Amino acid sequence: MTAVIKTIGLDCGYGKLAVVRDLNISVNEGEVVCFLGANGAGKSTSLLTIAGALPTIAGYVEVLGKEVKSARPHEVARRGLAIVPEGRGLFYKLTVAENLRLRRHRTSAVDLGDVLAYFPALEKLLNRRAALLSGGEQQMVALAGALIADPKVIMLDEMSLGLAPIIVEQLLPVVRRIADERGMSVLLVEQHVRAALRVADRGYVLAHGRVVTEGTAAQLRRDAEILEASYLGEQKATDEAEAKGLI
Ligand SMILES: Nc1ncnc2c1ncn2[C@@H]1O[C@H](COP(=O)(O)OP(=O)(O)OP(=O)(O)O)[C@@H](O)[C@H]1O
Ligand SMILES: [Mg+2]
Repeated sequence: MTAVIKTIGLDCGYGKLAVVRDLNISVNEGEVVCFLGANGAGKSTSLLTIAGALPTIAGYVEVLGKEVKSARPHEVARRGLAIVPEGRGLFYKLTVAENLRLRRHRTSAVDLGDVLAYFPALEKLLNRRAALLSGGEQQMVALAGALIADPKVIMLDEMSLGLAPIIVEQLLPVVRRIADERGMSVLLVEQHVRAALRVADRGYVLAHGRVVTEGTAAQLRRDAEILEASYLGEQKATDEAEAKGLI
């Protein structure tokens, strides 16, 4: 198994302040790995460091077989890593088609037709400005934009933020299909723990900057209740309220 993302003893954070310590995670070719943890645990900080957008404080990060040197995000992206950041990272004044065209590069083997096959709802929205789309549609554009760049690895940071659970339940299986059909690897930060564990192969749980649990998705699904009670804050209560149709 080839690791496309690997961190060894990684400390990362802001300035000299490490908010994540001794992170040892890997994502192998074709795997969907979820990265769980309560608000403020350090998930986004880890993703930004892996992408080369934040410098490491200590330890080692490797993406697609090469060390990530601090603050070289463009170089890491060229290697084949796409990140959909918190907040989706769209150009809101531009249309859907323009957003996608911007993300595609000359050598990309993925074209508009390929991404529309995964997100058919975007077809009739191609000429609409991104700002005028629903949250779920915007998230489809963000995912489609990552896909059309033809990466080998995609990191998704809370793509479900602000979306109705039913939309999340629809989008996550598409992520799985993309991984299976395109051989792409995915590192998935997700607050909808159970939904994420249904599509993932493995997962890590981060609490206060440290990995506290890791395992296969099946193992983590079995422990979901304990995880939610101990590390994932209010998520269980939220899930229950959603299930009862209260929110
Ligand atoms: N620019 C920054 N400067 C200093 N500290 C920061 C900065 N950004 C985040 N932090 C702190 O780093 C810690 C980890 O934040 P991070 O955003 O990585 O958490 P997260 O797991 O992604 O949380 P969430 O689920 O809320 O997105 C938090 O304590 C946060 O306050
Ligand atoms: Mg975050």
